[in-house]
Amino acid sequence: MIPVMDFGLQPLANDFCKEGEERAGYAPLKVLFCPRCTLAQLSIVVRPEILYSRYAYFTSTSQTIQNHFDTLAQDIMAETEGRELFEIGCNDGRGLRHFKDLGFAPVYGMDPAQNLCEVAKTRYGIDAICCFFSEKVQFPTLIGLKPDVVLARHVFCHVDNWAGFVRGLENVSRSDTLVCIEVPYAVDQLQTGSFDQCYHEHLSYLTLRAMVALLKDSQFHLHRIIRYNIHGGVILMMLRHNLSGIAPDASVQEFIAKEQVTETHWKDMDWKMRTSVTELQRLVFGATGCGKRVCAYGASAKATVLLNLCRFTKKQIAFVTDTTTTKLYRNVPGTDIPVVDEGALIREQPDYALLTAWNYEKEIITKEKWFNGKWIVPMPTVHVI
Ligand code: TYD
Repeated sequence: MIPVMDFGLQPLANDFCKEGEERAGYAPLKVLFCPRCTLAQLSIVVRPEILYSRYAYFTSTSQTIQNHFDTLAQDIMAETEGRELFEIGCNDGRGLRHFKDLGFAPVYGMDPAQNLCEVAKTRYGIDAICCFFSEKVQFPTLIGLKPDVVLARHVFCHVDNWAGFVRGLENVSRSDTLVCIEVPYAVDQLQTGSFDQCYHEHLSYLTLRAMVALLKDSQFHLHRIIRYNIHGGVILMMLRHNLSGIAPDASVQEFIAKEQVTETHWKDMDWKMRTSVTELQRLVFGATGCGKRVCAYGASAKATVLLNLCRFTKKQIAFVTDTTTTKLYRNVPGTDIPVVDEGALIREQPDYALLTAWNYEKEIITKEKWFNGKWIVPMPTVHVI
């Protein structure tokens, strides 16, 4: 494993706390690369109970995500007639509610965060079992039947024991179950240079080559790959059981043949991180030095990474706006920068807003048409709009 990126000591990206509340603390954030299977992973694993028992991230209700759910549902429906859907890491049930409205039934989920499972039930009427998914889950006794579709969106990269996870998938699937795993694609992340997607929850940065190596000894194989243009580029990996008798789609070989991920790509992103941080510091310190006010928009996990790398405090970034109530009036982890409601942008009219939720750039800039200041967009390269 070759060290390719080093972020130093970093706070946990979703550890939003009020003043005086006990924080989870800091941990080293380093990425290591395996040239043999092209998988990159973090050098350490923070205990999942610390990261996920009380989780501040809620599935986005943004239009971008609603549109993505529609596309995803269509792609799944085109692949199978089965409509019984089980979602691993269902978060607050927002996604399952959407899938239910589009015709999937019954739907049920699993998530380790107690606060999210309660919201799933009370707000969206979704049954969610509060538990980490693994091979140890006694799935049939908990739910009953085995589902037609198993969905895991942005969960796989958070898992340390992949072999155990795949054995869990084997336990919950019939030979005709369609398993759908959506992950940020390392190829896209490296191309955009979105270093801010590296944080303690993202234990690995997936390539298809690594996935093939993982599945070699399992009951599954890659069946179809679809790329979507959200969050800087993600892929949906459709897995089929080896006994399904369904031949893999041409997309699998096409994606694998094109896939180029090397140590140099990762080291280039490390260099890009350093130049972006310098550029952001120059812009923001320059602006505040002339008496201008700067805020940030979107208290995403990416914001925690970016603001900590730049060593900004509330002297530079007066506040960060966010729509998530569990983040409001708490500080961005590792900083004294407060998270406030979305309306603050228009009320306060700062001179600059750093778009830390850059993955929703189009939607946010369109929505915030009454903002008179300038946007600082950090990706793909730092620029001002
Ligand atoms: P997101 O990019 O979905 O995830 P991550 O935390 O994994 O980086 O986070 C986007 C954040 O931005 C989330 O906290 C919600 C917030 N947000 C707004 O405040 N307003 C908006 O209009 C949108 C689209 C997001």
